[in-house]
Amino acid sequence: MKNVESRNKIAVISGGTSGVGKKTALDLAKKNINTIILGSNKEKGSRVKNEIIKESGNVNVEFYPVDLCSLDEIKKFRSDLETKYDHIDILVSAAGVMLSDLKLTKEGYDQNFVINYLAHFWMINEMLPLLKNAKQGRILLVGAIPFVINRSKVELPKLERGTKYSGFKIVGESTVSKVLLTIALSEKLKGTRITANIFHPGYVTDSNYGADSSWFVKLLGSIAGTLFSKKNPTIGLELALEPSLSTTSGQLFNEKKEIIPLSSNYNKALADELWRFSLNLYR
Ligand SMILES: NC(=O)c1ccc[n+]([C@@H]2O[C@H](COP(=O)([O-])OP(=O)(O)OC[C@H]3O[C@@H](n4cnc5c(N)ncnc54)[C@H](OP(=O)(O)O)[C@@H]3O)[C@@H](O)[C@H]2O)c1
Repeated sequence: MKNVESRNKIAVISGGTSGVGKKTALDLAKKNINTIILGSNKEKGSRVKNEIIKESGNVNVEFYPVDLCSLDEIKKFRSDLETKYDHIDILVSAAGVMLSDLKLTKEGYDQNFVINYLAHFWMINEMLPLLKNAKQGRILLVGAIPFVINRSKVELPKLERGTKYSGFKIVGESTVSKVLLTIALSEKLKGTRITANIFHPGYVTDSNYGADSSWFVKLLGSIAGTLFSKKNPTIGLELALEPSLSTTSGQLFNEKKEIIPLSSNYNKALADELWRFSLNLYR
């Protein structure tokens, strides 16, 4: 039965079973939001769902298994969700991986590219009809330290890879793509009640991110986290619920909820080009 008259807001959180997504899901559940967490690992997802219910005291927490490498699974999730709810208020697109070796999806795409960028494009587009039915829908993407975002090379992702594979590089390119996607969304959603923003989540310590990476990448991550970021902030929650942000869109936030101006290398023309590129990979 459709939850048409739900008193609580409804949030969907990809990557909600660990790290940034789990932290945001727990914070939202504590505020009585109906919280739907997604992840690929069923056993972990059920365990984390129970953990969040116990810690928040909110029984309206659901886990839904979705492998983000598969557009079919994302579409199936959307159609199942539509049988239960007529809208969602919040989409936090928080899933991410750092795979050191090249792994391909069934369709032959690089998993680092898909899980860190393309699946966010797919998920957001699949959720748009439900977000449009909300009083005010919010899309939140997860970025990185703003200093790094503004010093990254801003270009479209490349599907061809050179001989020497670097997962680290693909993850960096995907973060740039998520910033451009935020710009494209904010333009395309003008005139709707949906906003799209990207944020640095701070240093979320309960994370599996980069577990598969070299000791050097892990060390770099923890140094950057410790030195340059606030630990475990509630930024995801604040951006999801703060009333004064109901029309703010296309912005990069740091973990202190400050808007950080983007370098002029991030522009609408490139964002449009990325949108067209991504549409070609969305069927
Ligand atoms: N942690 C930090 O301090 C920090 C700081 C800045 C930026 N970030 C960014 O935040 C993002 C997430 O990092 P994190 O620390 O939250 O990582 P994490 O702790 O490893 O969590 C990753 C989440 O993504 C999900 N996921 C991975 N592959 C998936 C797939 N194929 N299908 C569905 N879900 C999948 C995982 O669920 P399953 O295991 O069930 O697949 C898990 O819920 C990354 O882009 C990272 O760059 C993190």
